[in-house]
Formats: sequence, structure tokens, C-alpha cells
Amino acid sequence: MKKISPSILDVKKENLISYVNQLIEWNIDNIHYDVMDNKFVPNSALSFEEIKSIYNKCPSHKMDIHLMVEDVFYYFNLYKKFNAILTFHYEAFKNKESLQEIIKKAKEEKVQLGIAFNPDTDVSKIIPLLKDFALVLPMSVYPGKGGQAFIENTLDKVKTLKEFITKNNLNTIIQIDGGIKDFNIKKCFDAGIDLAVVGSYLVNNFSFETIKKLLN
Ligand code: DX5
Ligand code: ZN
Repeated sequence: MKKISPSILDVKKENLISYVNQLIEWNIDNIHYDVMDNKFVPNSALSFEEIKSIYNKCPSHKMDIHLMVEDVFYYFNLYKKFNAILTFHYEAFKNKESLQEIIKKAKEEKVQLGIAFNPDTDVSKIIPLLKDFALVLPMSVYPGKGGQAFIENTLDKVKTLKEFITKNNLNTIIQIDGGIKDFNIKKCFDAGIDLAVVGSYLVNNFSFETIKKLLN
């Protein structure tokens, strides 16, 4: 089933709550929250307080929190209480041990994990990790800001991921993030994604019609 996970990164701060409420009213049950630490990427995004306030004020929904951060353990502890999928970047792990440690910690604390990877990272590095992650996120732009152009070769990575997931009977969800618009979303679903993150395109064309167009 085709699904989108709207990113609220480019929504005006004063409209965050009403934007999320409207999405939920339109039966969008999955929302993408971008967090940046000004180190892993030279930018900041949603704050902990903003995400907490949405969590407290809006109806319950599936949250996927995309953590573009260096200190994975600090952010794991901060965000684990939201009952969300916490997606960290492969590139943020300094070594195999820290990656295994977060997998172990998440299992113990029953937190769902996602693994994102940058356009320059080879998909072969991610394949062996899939069994331990609820979600995989090949980035279709360099992380750090909304409104960038879609990188086409991400589709080959999606196909490779999909093939492996199917062959090995895994439940890992494939997401894609960056540059998704009405004219390229179909080829992402055709390549095998389950969940498309849509940021600026939906913010700039915010209507139920746009959502229908993205999902048809
Ligand atoms: C970028 C973020 C995205 C961003 C996508 O680093 O991870 O989630 O909001 O925005 P668009 O859809 O405008 O590329
Ligand atoms: Zn994102």
C-alpha cells in the first residue's frame, strides 16, 4: 500500500500543531520529524520541545524521527519515550561496536530503530544490518535541508534493498527522503519503497488534493 510520511521541517513554527492536526484529519497516520544537531549536518531543525508539544497536543499517530545527529546515544535516550521509530544515520556510527550497542539497547528497551544512509554511502554496507532495523532510509538528497533536487540513482539502492528484504522475508520498511514530488513519487513506489517522505512539496501545495495526487 502506498503511504506518505509528511516532513514538517519547512512548516512555519506557529503552524506546526495545526498542520499535524490537519494531516491526521486527512487520515495520514505517519509523520516524519527531522532533528539536526548542527554537527552531523550544519543546520538545526525541530527541537525536542516542539516534538514533545506535538506529541502531547495532537492525536496519537506513528512518528518516525529522523535523527541527523552525531551523538546517537544521547538522542536515543532523549527520544525513546515517544514510542516512535528512531532513525539514525549509518555515517554517525564511529565503529561496528557502537552500532551493535544501539541495536542491543533498542531491543532491551523495545524501541524501534531505523537506519538512514547518505547518497555517497554504498548500499552494500547497509544490507547486512537490515535484519536489526524496522526501517531503512536511503537518502535521495544530502541531508540538512528541504527543497533539494531528487538524486535519481537512489532508485537503484531501493531496488537492491527491496530484493534483499523480499528474499529474506524481512519486515523492514523502505522509506525515501528528499526531493519527492508528484512527478517522481510513482517511480519510488515502483522501485519498492513503502513510505515516501514529502516535505516542501506538500508544505507549498497543502491540500487534500495534493495528497490524493501523491498517492494515486
Ligand atoms: C532533509 C530532511 C527531509 C526534508 C525533505 O535533510 O531529512 O526530511 O524535510 O524535504 P523535501 O521533501 O523538501 O526534500
Ligand atoms: Zn528527513
